[in-house]
Amino acid sequence: MTTELMENILGYLSEYGEADSLDLAHRFAVDHQKIVGAIKSLQAFEDLLKVESKSRKEWVLTDEGQHVLEKGSHEAAVYNALPADFSAVSQADILSKVPFAKVGLSKALAASMVELIKTGKETLIKRKAPSITDNVQKHMKELQMLSDDSKKEYKKRKLIKENIIKIMVLQKGPNFSTKIEKPEADLTADLLMNDAWKTKKFKPINLNALGAALDVGHLHPLLKVRTEFRKIFLEMGFEEMPTNNYVENSFWNFDALFQPQQHPARDAHDTFFISEPAISSKFPEDYLKRVETVHSKGGYGSQGYKYDWKIEEAQKNLLRTHTTAVSARMLYQLMQKSEFKPVRYFSIDRVFRNETLDATHLAEFHQVEGVIADYDLTLGDLIGVLYEFFKKLGIEKLEFKPAYNPYTEPSMEIFCFHEGLNKWIEIGNSGVFRPEMLLPMGLPENVNVIAWGLSLERPTMIKYGLNNIRDLVGPKVDLQMVQENPLCRLDKCRTAIKVNEKVMINNSCSPIIFLREVFETEEMALFCDADHPPCCIKPLLVLLNKVYNISVTTHEHSSVVQSCRKDINNINRFLLDLTSNNTLPKMVITLIWHRGETCLKLSNKRVLAGQVNVARYFGRLIEKANSELLKYESFGATFAAQIDMALSKIEEAEPLTQNSLALLHEFRKIDNLNYICGDEMSLLDVFFM
Ligand code: PHE
Repeated sequence: MTTELMENILGYLSEYGEADSLDLAHRFAVDHQKIVGAIKSLQAFEDLLKVESKSRKEWVLTDEGQHVLEKGSHEAAVYNALPADFSAVSQADILSKVPFAKVGLSKALAASMVELIKTGKETLIKRKAPSITDNVQKHMKELQMLSDDSKKEYKKRKLIKENIIKIMVLQKGPNFSTKIEKPEADLTADLLMNDAWKTKKFKPINLNALGAALDVGHLHPLLKVRTEFRKIFLEMGFEEMPTNNYVENSFWNFDALFQPQQHPARDAHDTFFISEPAISSKFPEDYLKRVETVHSKGGYGSQGYKYDWKIEEAQKNLLRTHTTAVSARMLYQLMQKSEFKPVRYFSIDRVFRNETLDATHLAEFHQVEGVIADYDLTLGDLIGVLYEFFKKLGIEKLEFKPAYNPYTEPSMEIFCFHEGLNKWIEIGNSGVFRPEMLLPMGLPENVNVIAWGLSLERPTMIKYGLNNIRDLVGPKVDLQMVQENPLCRLDKCRTAIKVNEKVMINNSCSPIIFLREVFETEEMALFCDADHPPCCIKPLLVLLNKVYNISVTTHEHSSVVQSCRKDINNINRFLLDLTSNNTLPKMVITLIWHRGETCLKLSNKRVLAGQVNVARYFGRLIEKANSELLKYESFGATFAAQIDMALSKIEEAEPLTQNSLALLHEFRKIDNLNYICGDEMSLLDVFFM
C-alpha cells in the first residue's frame, strides 16, 4: 500500500515537476498524514527528492460543520421537521425536538422557508416555501471551492475554521526516478563476485542504529531491591556499616545485645554454630567485664538477669543470626574514637538461622537494618522515621504492635497494609535499644538509639509476585526470571496525595499506634549553601507550588557573609512571591542559608541538604501529585535509572561547575531533544533552567 502510494507520488511529480503534500492528499483522497509518511520513506532514498517544509492555512469543518455535512443544515432540519401539508404546529415543540433548532429557526425564517403564526396563547410554526434545497450542506461538501465571502460567513456561523498545517513541498532531486529500487543493506560475497556491486545502490550506513543486544550478566531481583533500599537510606543521610563477616561470635551476636546466655535463640536448634574454629578469644577486656556484670549482677539502674555468666558461652563462634551484631560492634566502636557524635547507620546483608524450611523461610536470608543514635530520641522519633522510610518504599499505611526483643525496650513489630493482597502483613521489627546494652559501651546516658530491621526477601517476593522463596533463592531459580525481570522501582508513585485522613482509633485487644497526622502537612527544613545557591530550586518550587500551598520562611546562619548577599536576596525574593492556594495540601518550608558544614540540629523536621537530595525529594512530591508536570520515576525504569546516573554525576560535581553543566548539556544535545525525555520535562531538566 505505501509502496503504491510512494510510486503514485513519484508518478505525479514526474508529470507536473512539483507537488505539495496537501494537494496530493486531496488528489489521491488519502489522509494527509499518510502522504507525509510516504514522503518520509521516499526521503530515505538519497537525492531522489528535494523536500521543503512549509506551513499552509487550510479550511476545515468544525464539529458542528461535520454535523451539517452528515445530517443537513440546521434550517433544513427545522423545515423537514414541519408537516408537509403546511399545517401549523407548536414552535416550542419544534425547538425542543430538533437539534440546533434555535439557529435553524432564525436562518429558516430569514430564508423564508418557514413562517410563524402568533395566536393568543402560543406561537405556531409552519412551512412557507413549497420546497427547499440545502445549499449549506452542499457547501460543506465543497468547502475548498467556496468564495472568500462564503467562507467568512460560515466561519461566523462556526461551521468551518482555519487550521495551520505543516505541509511538504516536493521537487525532483538529482537522482529522481519513478521507480524505487530497494537499496542493498549488505555487501555480500555474491555482489562482489559478479561485480554487481558496481551498479547497485546501497543503504547509507546508519551510525545511530543500535547494536545487537549483548549477552551480559543480569542482576538478581534481590540485588535490584537492595539497590533501592540503599538509595533510600543514603537519601536519608545514613552511612553503610561494614557487614562483610558472616562468622561472628556469640559475644557480639548475643551478649553485647543483653541477650541472656540461656535464651532459646542461642540453642543449636536455632543457630548454626561453627566447629572450626569453634571459639573466638579476642575481646575488648573492659567492655567484656561490663557486659558480664550487667548480665550477672545488673547495673545502670537495672537488676540484670542474675545468673552465672560464662565467657565460654560468649566465645562460641556462629553464623550471625542478625546484622544487629554489626550494629553493636559499630556503636561500641563509635565510643572508642572520641566524644559521642550522632550517627545514622544502615546495613543490608546476609544472616543465618536454623529454621524449618518452608515456602517463605530459608536458613539464610538478608536483613535490612537501620540504626540512629542521637540525644533524647523517643519512640515518637522511631515511629516518625519508620513512616518516612516506608513512605519512600511506597508504603503509607503502617501499624505497630508491641513486641519483645531482649535488646530493645519498647519494641514494636511493624505491619503494613498490602494493597495487592488486601491485608495487613508483618514487615519488620523495631525498638529502642536498652540501656543495659548501650551504657556498657560507654554511650552517654541521654543518648538513645532507635533501630529497625526487616528482611530483603519479603518485599522482593511481593514486588516480583513470587510466592515461593525457592523461586527466588537456591538451585531451582529460573535464570530466565532473573534475566527478564525488570529493574525494581518501588511503587512510589502509586497513590495520590491524601490529606486529612482519619486517625485510626486504638484497637482494644492490641493497642495500635497510628500516627497518620504526621504527614498531613509536609514540613521540612532546607539547608542551602550560600556559596553555591542551588540552581534547581526556582524551577522546582514553581512546579511544587502548583500542587502544594507553600509557605516559606528564610533564615540565615551566622556563617553567611556579605559577598553571598546578592544570590541569597534573589532567591529569597522569589520565594516570598510564591502564590498561595488554600485548596492545596500545605507545605511549610524553613530555608536556612549557611556556609560550610551544616551544624544545626532541628528536631521534628524533615531535613534536606544538598541540592540533588532536595531535587529528588521535590521531584517525587511533584510527580506523585501530578506526573504531567515532571517526569522522574513514572516514566519507566530505564529512564529513571538514567536520570539517577546523571543526578549522581551532578552530586559528585557539587558545587556545580561550568564543566559539569556543559557535560549535561551535551547529554541532551546528542538527541536533539527539548528535554531529556523529549517534550516532557524531567527532574534533570530543572538543573538547566
Ligand atoms: N535484629 C532483629 C531481628 O533479627 C531486628 C531488629 C533490629 C529489631 C533492630 C529491633 C531493632 O529480627
